[in-house]
Amino acid sequence: MDIVFEQVEHIYQANSPFSQRALYDVNLSIKSGTYVAIIGHTGSGKSTLLQHLNGLLQPTKGMVCVGDYVIHSAKQAKQLKPLRQKVGIVFQFPEHQLFEETVEKDICFGPINFGVSEEEAKRRAKVALSLVGLPEEVLNKSPFDLSGGQMRRVAIAGILAMEPDVIVLDEPTAGLDPKGRKDLMEMFARLHREKQLTTILVTHSMEDAAKYADYIVVMHKGTVWKTGTPQQIFHDLDSLLHLGLDVPETVLLKRRLEEKMGQEIPSPCLTMEQLIAGIKQLFAKVNEHE
Ligand SMILES: Nc1ncnc2c1ncn2[C@@H]1O[C@H](COP(=O)(O)OP(=O)(O)O)[C@@H](O)[C@H]1O
Ligand SMILES: [Mg+2]
Repeated sequence: MDIVFEQVEHIYQANSPFSQRALYDVNLSIKSGTYVAIIGHTGSGKSTLLQHLNGLLQPTKGMVCVGDYVIHSAKQAKQLKPLRQKVGIVFQFPEHQLFEETVEKDICFGPINFGVSEEEAKRRAKVALSLVGLPEEVLNKSPFDLSGGQMRRVAIAGILAMEPDVIVLDEPTAGLDPKGRKDLMEMFARLHREKQLTTILVTHSMEDAAKYADYIVVMHKGTVWKTGTPQQIFHDLDSLLHLGLDVPETVLLKRRLEEKMGQEIPSPCLTMEQLIAGIKQLFAKVNEHE
């Protein structure tokens, strides 16, 4: 499902003294099957933008197209139910939304709510649980007896059991330790690859944006400031730093090395592997000249 935002504006509590413009003139195009990272300061409009993807919020101006669904300010929410099945949103701390007495019931809740039979929902719960890397015996446990990391995986399994085409992740690794973070990011990368899931990730980790995304969208003060491949986005270091955003450590290290050695490193250096390859190339070049 291709996704297009056209001149989207969102004002919270419009026409009231408390009105707050969170988005304006957002134009964006996301091709089906891509992995997009959205970065930007707190308050730049990332979460507001995400909630337009399945009609939880509707634009106050402009329109959002998700596949054949067109969402604009006049559309009634009830027509959006099929869209909510197609676009699964994993909110921050999704484990806070677990509530059933067993893991199985929790995972089945969404599919059953969308009209799937109980038998089919249970089948999907098993599949989803293995997709998130949890063993089947967890199904009969209470979600509240699991560890924090496991609870988060159960909540994600509940979204996957709806068999969405698009998965939207709002800072999904917040609060996890480094290993838990890496495991979860690798899991999303695998799902993206194996299920061709269009993946839209909001993250504060520039390393994750650089490593996993095909495209990066930089949000600034309620609108899209820039889009491009990780290579394009992190090439323009100075303007990102000027906005007060981080850049991957490896990109900073590359710049420092280049300044010290007076030589350009012929590698994008978005990941540690690329930086090591770049340094090797640099030494090979230096040796050649000696
Ligand atoms: N429910 C809401 N009511 C009023 N204003 C809101 C609401 N949610 C967010 N905002 C405001 O909208 C702007 C964008 O917020 P948000 O989309 O949450 O940004 P981000 O996810 O990038 O931190 C901020 O100024 C925020 O204060
Ligand atoms: Mg947010």
